[in-house]
Amino acid sequence: MLVNETLNVIMSRRSVRAYKPDPVPQNALASILEAGGAAPYVVPKSRYCAVIQDKSQIERLSKAAKEQGVKISDSHRELFSAPGFDGTYGAPVVIIVAGNEKTPQYEAVCGASVQNMLLAAKSLGIASCWVYFPIFAFHGAQEVLWRKELRIPDGYRPCAAVLLGYAKE
Ligand SMILES: Cc1cc2nc3c(=O)[nH]c(=O)nc-3n(C[C@H](O)[C@H](O)[C@H](O)COP(=O)(O)O)c2cc1C
Repeated sequence: MLVNETLNVIMSRRSVRAYKPDPVPQNALASILEAGGAAPYVVPKSRYCAVIQDKSQIERLSKAAKEQGVKISDSHRELFSAPGFDGTYGAPVVIIVAGNEKTPQYEAVCGASVQNMLLAAKSLGIASCWVYFPIFAFHGAQEVLWRKELRIPDGYRPCAAVLLGYAKE
């Protein structure tokens, strides 16, 4: 394989599942979001990102996701019920990516955005993980409340999430 800076970033990115509580610098976060917005789309305004940086809000979201996630299957229940399990892994930033349901293939559009964000994060020395887990919070009766709290516009469906932060050793 040829070697350059971009290929190095792509090849060296790995999902991180244990984060320090240290915040992500706002200029880095802004650049990561901008990179997400630069991904291919079907029509403009195909996706919406809700950025969560409040620790207690992330913990509440994670708890709500766990409550719904355990209902998916026995293996989900087993995994999510393990002592100390936290599907957001202590990350100080959670980005919920929602796709415009009127856009054909909106999940693919969100995925392109997510991957751009992961690579941008890696290029800036910030760890990341693509997670579906927080989306479980939107599966149940609490969906309406979470949509309101995170100001997710009507017609946009949360379909992927990005965790950002600094990796624990
Ligand atoms: C659509 C999608 C959903 C994912 N959801 C989760 C998740 O909920 N929790 C998790 O820990 N990892 C999740 N991952 C991350 C994968 O597990 C991870 O990318 C895979 O293990 C490969 O590892 P790497 O990213 O380090 O190469 C998800 C990845 C994708 C593409």
